[in-house]
Amino acid sequence: MLPRFLKPTLSVAQKGAQQLSTSARHNAKVAVMGASGGIGQPLSLLLKESPLVTELSLYDIVNTPGVAADLSHINTVAKVKAFNGPDQLRDSLKGAQVVIIPAGVPRKPGMSRDDLFNTNASIVRDLAQACAEVAPKAFVAIISNPVNSTVPIASEVFQKAGVYDPNRIFGVTTLDIVRANTFIGEAKGLDPQKLVLPVIGGHSGITIIPLISQCKPSVSFPQDQLKALTERIQEAGTEVVKAKAGTGSATLSMAYAGARFGFSLIRALNGEQNIIECSYVRSNVTDAKYFSTPILLGKNGVEKNLGLGKLSDFEAKLLEAAIPELKKNIQKGEDFVNKK
Ligand code: APR
Repeated sequence: MLPRFLKPTLSVAQKGAQQLSTSARHNAKVAVMGASGGIGQPLSLLLKESPLVTELSLYDIVNTPGVAADLSHINTVAKVKAFNGPDQLRDSLKGAQVVIIPAGVPRKPGMSRDDLFNTNASIVRDLAQACAEVAPKAFVAIISNPVNSTVPIASEVFQKAGVYDPNRIFGVTTLDIVRANTFIGEAKGLDPQKLVLPVIGGHSGITIIPLISQCKPSVSFPQDQLKALTERIQEAGTEVVKAKAGTGSATLSMAYAGARFGFSLIRALNGEQNIIECSYVRSNVTDAKYFSTPILLGKNGVEKNLGLGKLSDFEAKLLEAAIPELKKNIQKGEDFVNKK
């Protein structure tokens, strides 16, 4: 049987239809933290649409009653519930098996993801603290940027709480894979849903390493085009930030990617085999303590880290450039939690 990631991707609605039989056997409670935001709302819509989700818990510091009332009228199985403000934070997480975190402030033109650190670090720390207390066994999928640092932050918080399981905390890098598939598909006239193309490393700038040499079906480009495509994938988020001209960063494509990752986590929980996604996790594949590679997912989260595979010389140089930056981002996240 082909691994899940080798199969053509179905639309979210098609997946929903396919999964009806699965949903009859399994319940998945998903909590979205930051559910009223630019990412949170379309992400919650995609989750509500899927029969894989039976309970949808929406937490934000504002506006969740409206978002939940609106979504609750959609005729799918998921029961939607609103939790508004810090007093309801812990209740929102009770019984959650998958927690997806897009809470935080987005970038404006001229900002790097690291510029978000000051605001988003404490948001992720506090959400992770609540999660460690109330839902320590949940799979936690972190979207809030800078992901390179927020995943170490959440991990440190879990560690301090004595409930850390490195196999259950994930940085969502799926949008990098989605973008790489789109741009390479366009360049070669191939259906982007039929490509398999790992993107490894981290989730910002030069830490994003598309492994175009491993693309299936195999593709090749002259060196200058390969470099241009690689840089476009690395800077694709900035393309959106510029186009949105001060009103935010990627929301719709990020919601799509976050939902895809969330569905893969639920399928793995449900015991489906061959669920593979790239994700930024605790890792000993390189010198960086956290690193994204293709991960085989299972009932307990990371079942097997599938590693780097064979890199071209060009990709090996990208990796070399990424490691010091990643280490710096990771240290910054750890220091934030451990500072006196
Ligand atoms: N707890 C829960 N939600 C919060 C908190 C908090 N402490 N602080 C802010 N939020 C909510 C906001 O109320 C808002 O509804 O997070 C949501 C963020 O939404 P937007 O401002 O629209 O930002 P968005 O585009 O969704 O991006 C959020 O995801 O990709 C990353 O870089 C992006 O870090 C940013 C995050």
